[in-house]
Amino acid sequence: MAGNYFLRNHWYVVAHSFEVKTEKPLARTICDEQVVIFRTEDGTPAMLNNRCPHRKAPLSSGEVCGNVIACGYHGIRFNTDGSCAGIPGGLEPPKNFATRGYPVVERHGWIWAWLGEKTADPSMIPDFYENDHPEWAPVPGYLNIACNYQLMVDNILDLTHVVFVHKTTLSGGGVTDTPLEVKVEGDKIFSQRLMYNVTTAPIFARALGMNGMIDRWQIFEYDPPMYVKITVGAKEAGSDSPMGHPVHRVLNCFTPETENSLHYFWSTPRSWALDDPKVDQLYDEMIWEAFNEDKVIVEQQQALIDSDPAQAPLVVLPFDRAGNSARRILKRLMDEEQAEAAAKVAAE
Ligand code: FES
Ligand SMILES: [Fe+2]
Repeated sequence: MAGNYFLRNHWYVVAHSFEVKTEKPLARTICDEQVVIFRTEDGTPAMLNNRCPHRKAPLSSGEVCGNVIACGYHGIRFNTDGSCAGIPGGLEPPKNFATRGYPVVERHGWIWAWLGEKTADPSMIPDFYENDHPEWAPVPGYLNIACNYQLMVDNILDLTHVVFVHKTTLSGGGVTDTPLEVKVEGDKIFSQRLMYNVTTAPIFARALGMNGMIDRWQIFEYDPPMYVKITVGAKEAGSDSPMGHPVHRVLNCFTPETENSLHYFWSTPRSWALDDPKVDQLYDEMIWEAFNEDKVIVEQQQALIDSDPAQAPLVVLPFDRAGNSARRILKRLMDEEQAEAAAKVAAE
């Protein structure tokens, strides 16, 4: 059934902050809902269902006027909560004439929207502070990918694929030979792979000039429904501890667009070379190249999953453990949410 593949009562990144402007409302599909995202003239972000309740033209065809958005067809105006703010000619709005408004928060350089029916709880937004902090230099990116978002959660929680998919960027020694340590705590997953005395990765060679053997680390934190923070770093081989600086992080948000497509919002904040545009450019190019490689493989994977006549289940190997734990957590949360909603309907 439509809508059963994602957790409703949660926050989803719907845009990078810089994408949303007063001058031009942004139309997007989020979890199968057509929405318009915009800023009022004082800069406040808002998200409404994009379907005008009058004749169903897109509100995104219109423009922002002060604190309201005016539909581009007949100019009916709507407040940021979706209520009608006025009909041209001073006509009285019909009863319940409104579009849906969504709770919205701008935080960590992103616009977050709450899709569920429960009261929105901003404390559930994951802590991605590095994307908007003076001690970090973020490099953001976006891709539209034609697969279910769980395939990308699997992908990002299992970086053994970097050796095969990202040969010219993120590859390097140690990844496939080092077991992934995984710890599940409540709804969160922590995993890591610490690698000693391994060949360097192209990104460390180009960004940090590390051409010899390195100690290298990858640390993962998963927050439901589909947020993954990765801390990645390297030092010359033989360091006392493979952890510390310099590091970069990869903040990953895989917002469902539909059941089989997603908006990949990412940022790669780093804790060094904060004001160096050459390093920004290098990260932009290498990460863009790598994530496009992910897009190619997961879109092919989704197509073959969909067309598999046997519909055989996916197989779980030890390096799939973190991704599989994420699937289990998410399934439990969605089951709980759907059972709660069904009980509420039954009681009505
Ligand atoms: S369709 Fe939007 S004002 Fe008529
Ligand atoms: Fe990848």
